[in-house]
Amino acid sequence: MLTGGAGYIGSHVIVALRESGREVVVLDDMSTGLRERVPADVPLVFGSVADKDLVVQTMMDHEVTGVIHLAAKKAVGESVERPLYYYQENVGGLLSLLEAVRIAEVEHFVYSSSAGVYGQPDHSPVLEDGPTVPLSPYGETKLVGEWLLADLAAVMPLSWCALRYFNVAGAGDPALADTSVGNLIPIVLRDDSEGRPATVFGDDYPTPDGTCIRDYIHVVDLAEAHVRAAELTEQARVGEIINVGTGTGSSVLEVLASLGTALGHEVAYEIGARRAGDPGALVASVDRATEVLGWRSRFDLDDMTSSAVTALADR
Ligand code: WQD
Repeated sequence: MLTGGAGYIGSHVIVALRESGREVVVLDDMSTGLRERVPADVPLVFGSVADKDLVVQTMMDHEVTGVIHLAAKKAVGESVERPLYYYQENVGGLLSLLEAVRIAEVEHFVYSSSAGVYGQPDHSPVLEDGPTVPLSPYGETKLVGEWLLADLAAVMPLSWCALRYFNVAGAGDPALADTSVGNLIPIVLRDDSEGRPATVFGDDYPTPDGTCIRDYIHVVDLAEAHVRAAELTEQARVGEIINVGTGTGSSVLEVLASLGTALGHEVAYEIGARRAGDPGALVASVDRATEVLGWRSRFDLDDMTSSAVTALADR
């Protein structure tokens, strides 16, 4: 069972799961999901992860053996404005879902976590065992989710894996592209299409070109990591927390240059103020993903920007 399967990341996970020969049932409340992202021959249950009876029924009806849980709220700024809502949706939703997991005796669980749990790390690349000091209610809810899984697995047969996503970008298919405009690449593409310069949030960071460095990971690579994580939870009783990134950082200016190449024209930008809470550099250590999941990213920044540009042109 894939929660949030009608979302940007979820729809790519459906593709990867089916390519691996698995059957999938999607649970989505369609608050941000799109019907057309879910193939017609994949069962789609319209409902919330917090509707425990519906979740248990779905697990029984579809003989669910494992859950990949993506359904959650993910806007950092909104989480600062609405902390109760974020705890309700992300922590409350997971709590209810795990009660259903217990009732239906499902033993395998993959959880969508975030690099947001690290806050502003002193060192990059960041190791999974390093300090977790989230700077937003969003990041806190993701970290609490990891704790909850670890606590539950201590008292029931639950094999789980939490994937800490870095900066997800790109599209495997134009139809599955990110339609929200919440992150750097979609924001710059929107500004460019509207003839406005992009704003670079600060150029006085201690990085080679002064702009923030992030680890951008192609959504197709990320989706494949979920399949590997699902397999891992089935092969052994695990409780693993794993970064999902490329291990390579790109600065904001490098992203703009790559977008310029994909667009065929230079992207206009201006330098703005720093954004509160932005770490100068946040890059994943990918050793654990390689060792434990046997997974590595295949795509690079140009693949992400070009697929994002193609998807936008198709819309
Ligand atoms: C990327 C870089 C900005 C917009 C967030 C969450 C994280 C995870 C991924 C979900 C930064 C710069 C941005 C703009 C800019 N989310 N930027 N001008 O903040 O790295 O991570 O999304 O799990 O938890 O915190 O992503 O895309 O907002 O920013 O210069 O108009 O682009 O400063 O360096 P971020 P982002």
